Amino acid sequence: MRIVVLGVGYLGATHAACMAKLGHQVLGVDTDESKLAQLSSGVVPFYEPHLNELTAEMVAAGNLRFTSSYLEAADFGDVYFIAVGTPQKKGEYAADVSALDSLIDTLAPLLTKPAIIFGKSTVPVGTAARLRERARRLAPAGTGVELAWNPEFLREGHAIDDTLRPDRLVLGVVEASDKAVDAARQVYGSILESGVPFIITDLATAELVKVSANAFLATKISFINAIAEVCDASGGDVVQLADAIGYDSRIGRAFLNAGLGFGGGCLPKDIRAFMARAGELGADQALTFLREVDAINMRRRSQMVELARDACGSLLGARVGVLGAAFKPDSDDVRDSPALNVAGQLQLQGAAVTVYDPKAVENSRRLFPTLAYADSVEAACSKADVVLLLTEWDEFKELDPHKLGRVVSRRLLLDGRNCVDPSVWRQAGWTYKSFGRV
Ligand code: UGA
Repeated sequence: MRIVVLGVGYLGATHAACMAKLGHQVLGVDTDESKLAQLSSGVVPFYEPHLNELTAEMVAAGNLRFTSSYLEAADFGDVYFIAVGTPQKKGEYAADVSALDSLIDTLAPLLTKPAIIFGKSTVPVGTAARLRERARRLAPAGTGVELAWNPEFLREGHAIDDTLRPDRLVLGVVEASDKAVDAARQVYGSILESGVPFIITDLATAELVKVSANAFLATKISFINAIAEVCDASGGDVVQLADAIGYDSRIGRAFLNAGLGFGGGCLPKDIRAFMARAGELGADQALTFLREVDAINMRRRSQMVELARDACGSLLGARVGVLGAAFKPDSDDVRDSPALNVAGQLQLQGAAVTVYDPKAVENSRRLFPTLAYADSVEAACSKADVVLLLTEWDEFKELDPHKLGRVVSRRLLLDGRNCVDPSVWRQAGWTYKSFGRV
């Protein structure tokens, strides 16, 4: 099929490359010319494992192109995927959907032939119906234009796999006989043939599935972090506890890693936007628990700073080595990163902080130019009074505590992700502290 992907950020660039891999002809559209130039030469402007190789391969094969021209896109496409961002509004909980509105306002008047538009962005429930009406009103092709909602569940760091081998595909349509369903079956043909569940539903349910999934994941993380607080107060071990409850298949072990909590461009803003939308709909009481989920999560960051203060005596002048800046491993994304947030707070309180991350230093420097950055673990921890492990990259999990012990001034590790074996580090002469583990 001839597929247009509108917006080539983390989501759109991955989707475009993966659709090309499925054998479609794909055109990626964005307004950012420098991003388009990079992608056109097969270079992905962010870090996502294997995406560079896949993009380069698809561009070279002629299956994937990029443009800033909506006219070209309208001429090219049978099917359009919307993958623009819906960030949190400044000073409000609600999502900013203005990029979606302006995209429809630009694209729809150019649609002179029948087309299917699939929304992938995470949106407040009700957005799809509104955009559908708007697109059909503005398009010369009128009701020949169909808009359906096809939420995306990919995780950064696993984006290609999650796109090509998803747990499920969800499609929200106005009528089940909709031509959007046929188009989706063609687009995702080989994925569906492999037996991936395909849930066809209405627009509102499809929108809600996505935000509910993210709200549930956020709740799971905050639940285990709340339990970690109780473990700290009582001497329990949250890691063993998570293993033990995780064996119950009704609970499951995934997303029960206690630590510094969740960040990134999705979970934090999505739970807030969900609360805001429920409030608009008069269902605010239903989601007040998400306030607590948010509060537990944000508290982790200040608790980490407290842990560092207690461990050092005073933060004033303390030399702190921070390992990790990305919001999660295998990503260079630092949006609402708990690690970077803690590094910034420590510096504001007078510590001399040096940060190392395998992939996220460049993005961190743009966001927090005043922090010091190093290009290796050893350089970040040189003469450190305390080392904070804040993102669980494999490189950090595999560190040799004896070797690192030789560069620091004090063998003191605060493991913000419960990701190394305390006994190994203690045997190497380190004082080890973390959340929810004695
Ligand atoms: C999340 C969802 O997992 C995806 O399904 C969804 O498609 C995506 O948001 C989105 O809405 O676009 P992502 O933000 O890439 O994906 O990252 P996650 O793997 O969900 O991790 C989010 C945060 O939770 C990270 O900061 C991670 O360190 C933290 N986390 C995760 C924990 O603190 N503990 C855990 O046990 C798991």
